[in-house]
Amino acid sequence: MSIVRTVAVRTPSRAYDVLVGRGLLDEVGPVTHDAAGGEVAAVISDSNVAPLYARRVADSLEGAGYRTHLLTFPAGEQNKRLSTLETLLEGLAQAGLSRDDVIVALGGGVTGDMAGLAAALYLRGIKVVQVPTSLLAMVDSSVGGKTAVDLAHGKNLAGAFFQPHAVIADVDCFDTLSHELFTDSCGEVIKHGVLADPALFDDITDHPINAPGYAREDLARIVARNVEIKRDVVNADETERGLRQTLNLGHTLGHAIEAANDFALGHGSSVAAGLCCVARAAAALGWSDASVAERIETATRAFGLPVDTSVDHQSIFRYATHDKKRHGATVNLVVPVAIGSVEIRRITLEELRDVIAAGCGTARRV
Ligand code: GLY
Repeated sequence: MSIVRTVAVRTPSRAYDVLVGRGLLDEVGPVTHDAAGGEVAAVISDSNVAPLYARRVADSLEGAGYRTHLLTFPAGEQNKRLSTLETLLEGLAQAGLSRDDVIVALGGGVTGDMAGLAAALYLRGIKVVQVPTSLLAMVDSSVGGKTAVDLAHGKNLAGAFFQPHAVIADVDCFDTLSHELFTDSCGEVIKHGVLADPALFDDITDHPINAPGYAREDLARIVARNVEIKRDVVNADETERGLRQTLNLGHTLGHAIEAANDFALGHGSSVAAGLCCVARAAAALGWSDASVAERIETATRAFGLPVDTSVDHQSIFRYATHDKKRHGATVNLVVPVAIGSVEIRRITLEELRDVIAAGCGTARRV
């Protein structure tokens, strides 16, 4: 076991640590006990991750004195629904969890979002420890307290802000993650570099973290740096009144690209394409220097992620304006103005059409 870094998150509603390192699954018991206490731990996981890691995590929890219950649900975004949440809540009740007990969310983004929401709702709130097993969950969804399920009208439309008591990110879990899924999540890593850290951006452009043989310790440091970037944002704006909106960089167009592709293109890949599109639009509309878009495209290509979309502009507009982050007749668009710096521009729907025209389907072939 080695903890590479501990990142302290301090939001108005809760203070907690994110542990990043190797072999940490065996530490889930003692870390959970220190952070959350209680006597019973319900491990919530999906049908992909539970067979891989649930026994090991339960052993660690039992070693720390917990009685454990495992609640699993069928893997996949299509199951991130109220019906699955209801089954999980009934499972918690059947297991007899009290307000003093704890949920351990073991898995990727779907598991973390749904177990987090179950924790927010069950008995009006019990403790939750997030144990993310995918890159996307480690660098983004497990940190900052967003929890949700999808509705028929769109992703993450019903949820709550509910911070965990600890996050335990074991990069050895990447052993069981496919190269494709790992690469997809890198879209969010590129986003963080553009958002806040030119050194990280240059580092990952020159040494993409999805390259074969990339050292695990270095990967843990990259994960930790991403967590710090997200931490700085959520510490300052827990409930997305202002600064936290910058985490939506690449997402206005990215979500539209994802939805228009019927979710066949992964979330991170869609965000990467959306990021390149908004960067090209910003250059074309005079909001940033062309070199910013060029550098973002170079980084995105280095990871083998898409830099553009072939989805027609009308569809992108339609999906982008259905986004839950729309404000009446305007959209808050996050624009990269330099590597390491973004601004939020409130634009009209007509201006959004201009952005789509300038940025989507306009990448130069290389
Ligand atoms: N994933 C964006 C946020 O947590 O605000």
